[in-house]
Amino acid sequence: MENLSKESTKTVLFFDTGDLFFKTTRIPNFLEEQYKLQAQTIAKVYGVLNPVAITVGEKDFAVDLNFLKDLVEMNHLPVIASNLFDENNNPIFEKHKIHRVGDLSLGIFALVSETAFKTLPNYEKLKIHIEDPIKAAQKIVYYLKKNKKVNYVILLSHLGLFQDKFLVEKVQGIDFIFGGHSEDTLQTPENYKGALIFQSGSKGYYLGELGIKLESPQKDVVYEHKLYEMNASLDPGVEQINQIVSEFKGQLETLKDPTKKVLSSKKFETHTRCVQCHTKQTEIWKKSNHASAFLSLYAMNQHFNKDCAACHTVGLGQEGGFSNLHQATLKKNVSVSQVELVNQMLIDEKGEVKSSIQKLIEKQILKLRENAKNEKEGVERGKLNTQLGALQKIQDSKSLQGSKLDFRENTEIYKELKKLYRGALERQGLSIDYWGVQCENCHGARAGHLFEKAVFSKVVPSNVCYSCHTKSQSPQFDIKRYLLVEGKHKKGEFDFVCAIGKP
Ligand code: HEC
Ligand code: HEC
Ligand code: HEC
Ligand code: HEC
Repeated sequence: MENLSKESTKTVLFFDTGDLFFKTTRIPNFLEEQYKLQAQTIAKVYGVLNPVAITVGEKDFAVDLNFLKDLVEMNHLPVIASNLFDENNNPIFEKHKIHRVGDLSLGIFALVSETAFKTLPNYEKLKIHIEDPIKAAQKIVYYLKKNKKVNYVILLSHLGLFQDKFLVEKVQGIDFIFGGHSEDTLQTPENYKGALIFQSGSKGYYLGELGIKLESPQKDVVYEHKLYEMNASLDPGVEQINQIVSEFKGQLETLKDPTKKVLSSKKFETHTRCVQCHTKQTEIWKKSNHASAFLSLYAMNQHFNKDCAACHTVGLGQEGGFSNLHQATLKKNVSVSQVELVNQMLIDEKGEVKSSIQKLIEKQILKLRENAKNEKEGVERGKLNTQLGALQKIQDSKSLQGSKLDFRENTEIYKELKKLYRGALERQGLSIDYWGVQCENCHGARAGHLFEKAVFSKVVPSNVCYSCHTKSQSPQFDIKRYLLVEGKHKKGEFDFVCAIGKP
């Protein structure tokens, strides 16, 4: 964004169309503290980014109204919502905003949808009232045009693309609709009955840029449009924001455990137990990416983010599982830090990066440099440079933490890291270790499974895989390719082994 506004004569106006603070309407107990912290962090970042206007979506109300209002007030966020009222029929946020650019004035308003809000489990408790969007739009567009004499009317919509079109059929005079809610990613804006409708995806995957020339009197709008993929090759951004984000990560580490009660009756025994009898399965599992899922989070510096850990551990927040990431690895009931283990495993007696890894890193750096030379400026070259930066960082800081090393692009290094990691864990002789995608992620919590055999299913249904390999986290997932089971399912012919996850 900084870079956009640096460019010559452009004025950059930044908007957001809601569902900004939370990604779900229903927050599981064990995530509530973390989600609140996350929302506060996002609000602070937006305070720095200084948007012209933002609107809210139903997910922003996932905690409650007061929490949301505090976020908005403490960070002076310009929230508008034209059809959202409290129980006394007072608007909860500003109903519109006039923004001037040179001699021109833009009238901005925002709409939310009642159907969306009704999906909130706490909807009744919120005691909010949502006016019919069409009626609200008719009044406010008239007011902005006739009373305020604005040159352009902009709608921030949290109605969804389908409803946006329905709205322009009924209400005239809206020039631009920046849409949200339906999570559509439009490659180009859609000109629909005189309104330019525009939506740029969800979950922060894209930043949409619409370049327009505003004129008075209004002429046919000529625009340029770009979707920026928000990946690691982008400029790391403003120092102040990086500061806020690293503060957040620090806070995550010390976050209190919200579920005070100790999760009773351990039902998850973790791989440390299964290995005692199922050696073959364990040997193969240990080489899989599932077994080293801690490393991926550690490389992204997200290992204390419960949101991520939910799919990279076993039993988090579940009955009979665990709830505190600091106590995810135990040796005779005493916590062992995976962070320390991983740092130790990387370093030799002299305090240098172990030569087995060091050699691989050097080889890879040479290879990537060579590739970068032959690559034209662009996304691919950006990716190569990110990886070069990651390798450099591991060498300099002698740690994997936050290096952003992409294991899929550096397979030999990952293979060696996995070996060192499993070795380091084994030398500890752990009694419980919830880290990694394990036997019990696929086979269910198995404590005492020999005694209550009837309860457990022999088959692993495919929906178990899909629960983590979701469209967004595992876009390439294809059950036929990913379900690697070694041996034949018919007993007697071969030994059966469940080797899942590419070694
Ligand atoms: C004390 C030894 C022992 C331990 C520990 C053990 N198992 Fe088993 N497991 C067995 C035996 C023996 C069978 C075979 C039972 C049969 O074929 O009827 C079995 C069968 C299974 C099966 C095949 C399906 C079934 O239910 O019959 C799965 C899956 C399984 N175990 C998973 C696990 C997991 C996961 C763990 C760790 C939480 C674990 N086992 C711990 C001994 C053990
Ligand atoms: C608890 C969540 C979870 C479940 C359940 C799960 N996976 Fe995974 N899977 C992961 C994670 C996380 C990774 C990435 C591990 C890493 O490298 O950090 C992964 C990686 C993989 C990989 C390696 C992909 C690669 O590019 O190397 C394969 C293959 C795979 N899973 C297959 C399966 C199959 C098949 C199932 C169902 C039988 C399944 N997974 C169930 C979370 C899960
Ligand atoms: C819904 C479950 C789920 C959640 C939540 C999740 N992951 Fe994963 N993650 C996966 C699966 C599944 C894979 C394996 C993807 C594949 O290889 O197809 C994976 C792979 C990865 C990888 C390895 C390579 C890659 O980029 O594909 C990294 C790094 C990673 N996850 C980091 C994270 C971080 C950081 C978070 C939290 C912000 C997170 N994950 C949250 C399921 C999840
Ligand atoms: C990613 C999911 C996944 C993980 C992780 C996993 N398994 Fe399996 N396992 C399977 C699948 C799939 C099968 C094949 C059963 C079927 O067809 O559904 C299987 C089969 C088995 C069987 C039955 C073998 C037989 O002869 O019928 C045992 C025992 C077993 N796994 C033990 C383990 C143990 C122990 C671990 C941990 C070290 C483990 N599994 C990890 C998915 C997994």
